[in-house]
Amino acid sequence: MIAVTLFAAAGSCGSMALAVDKVPTGMTQNPPSVEHGKSLFYDPALSGSPNDKSCNTCHPGGKGLGNAWKNPKLAETINTCITSPLMGKALTIDSKEMKSLMLYIKSLKSTSSGY
Ligand code: HEC
Repeated sequence: MIAVTLFAAAGSCGSMALAVDKVPTGMTQNPPSVEHGKSLFYDPALSGSPNDKSCNTCHPGGKGLGNAWKNPKLAETINTCITSPLMGKALTIDSKEMKSLMLYIKSLKSTSSGY
């Protein structure tokens, strides 16, 4: 019964990455993704941040980050922005959160209004 309900829910809303994240499917964790990074970017509680700022507060819609994919210290820069304005905890470079944020920022290369 429960399993059937879960499968039905997962099948009907594949785009709800956050909800799917929390479903204990017993499968391997969802891999890092642009979508996950984007939701973190808009999340004021990112990495334990106690204030109401999110990445989006200062980089609305990823504005100004169109060249960040070239930044050789991208992960460190992201961590600086997490620990300083957000007052959150630095992410490890190989965490799903950091990888997803980097994927999202790299995706801004083509989708930002920089052309
Ligand atoms: C209080 C404002 C503020 C917040 C909040 C903030 N940043 Fe930043 N960020 C800046 C400033 C200022 C810079 C340096 C100037 C610039 O490159 O725009 C910067 C730079 C960056 C860069 C480097 C850009 C480049 O071209 O190399 C990245 C990447 C970045 N931020 C990502 C993030 C992410 C991800 C978050 C959320 C965890 C975040 N920022 C939250 C203000 C902020």
